[in-house]
Amino acid sequence: MPDTTLSGVTVQPLSGHIGAEIYGVDLAKPLDDSVIETIRSAVLRWKVVFFREQDIDHAAHVAFGQRFGELIRMPARGSVSPKDYPEIETTADFLEHGPTFGLDNNEWTERNRHSPWRGWHIDASPRIDPPTATILRAEQVPSYGGDTMWANLAAAYTGLSEAVQRLADGLRVEHRLGVTYRPRPGRDAYVEHLMENQAATIHPLVRVHPETGERVLFIDCQYIEQIIGVSRFESQGLLSMFTEQILRPEYTVRFRWEPGSVAFWDNRSTMHLGPVDTAHLESGIPRIMHRVMVVGDIPVGVDGKPSESLVGAPLNPKLS
Ligand SMILES: [Fe+2]
Repeated sequence: MPDTTLSGVTVQPLSGHIGAEIYGVDLAKPLDDSVIETIRSAVLRWKVVFFREQDIDHAAHVAFGQRFGELIRMPARGSVSPKDYPEIETTADFLEHGPTFGLDNNEWTERNRHSPWRGWHIDASPRIDPPTATILRAEQVPSYGGDTMWANLAAAYTGLSEAVQRLADGLRVEHRLGVTYRPRPGRDAYVEHLMENQAATIHPLVRVHPETGERVLFIDCQYIEQIIGVSRFESQGLLSMFTEQILRPEYTVRFRWEPGSVAFWDNRSTMHLGPVDTAHLESGIPRIMHRVMVVGDIPVGVDGKPSESLVGAPLNPKLS
């Protein structure tokens, strides 16, 4: 049964473990604290929530995001991001990404795809303080293709056997920008960009969620360099096992975007997959999306030990 609150907001779960649609909210208007609380609880419970048919501009998007915390101002935003809203990052497929570094989209995709799971990521996990949450809205989307998927990292942990949970609890992992990229021979502008903008952090493999207390398999498939203190082949084997666990269908949800759709996810307990099926768009319209991200804290492991930055500044300037 959907859960309808006194404020008229309905939270309709989409699967057993992850995802809910929220109805009865107009994000263009100022929202009561009770509505914000309902949304916050739904995000913590369902990890990602979706709103449809929202007619909001950049100002309303920023105002909504600020109800959940301070918003990050990304140090390097893409050229299509709106100048007057430093909290908003815009992506427009085929206008940025590869072409910025002299690669056409096919080469960019091919050089970035080392495994079938490449692309599944936690936003900004190579930083010491990955965002608490991301709120992404669709302005223009294709009529088919371009869906996003999320996986529940807390449910995946809970679904492990106790013996493997204990093993995972004690592990730490290096997250680093650019680890799935295969450089071009000779000079490579993207490698130069990576060298100038390095970010790497050792995070606990199992993070204790600061609000729910849940244990979370805090790994992804895009930024993981290595499990610390084990051999390369042990690291690869363990990461494969954890990845297969996380990506079991029961822990994932898939969302089909429409213009005006908004997705709001807990970046501490999910990883997500941006579109990998948009090759048909090359000659068509770009997929234009805008996001804001809420500042995060420093992850803490089961042993109470926080993450440790290797290189790169925090996203929250107050942590510098
Ligand atoms: Fe992302």
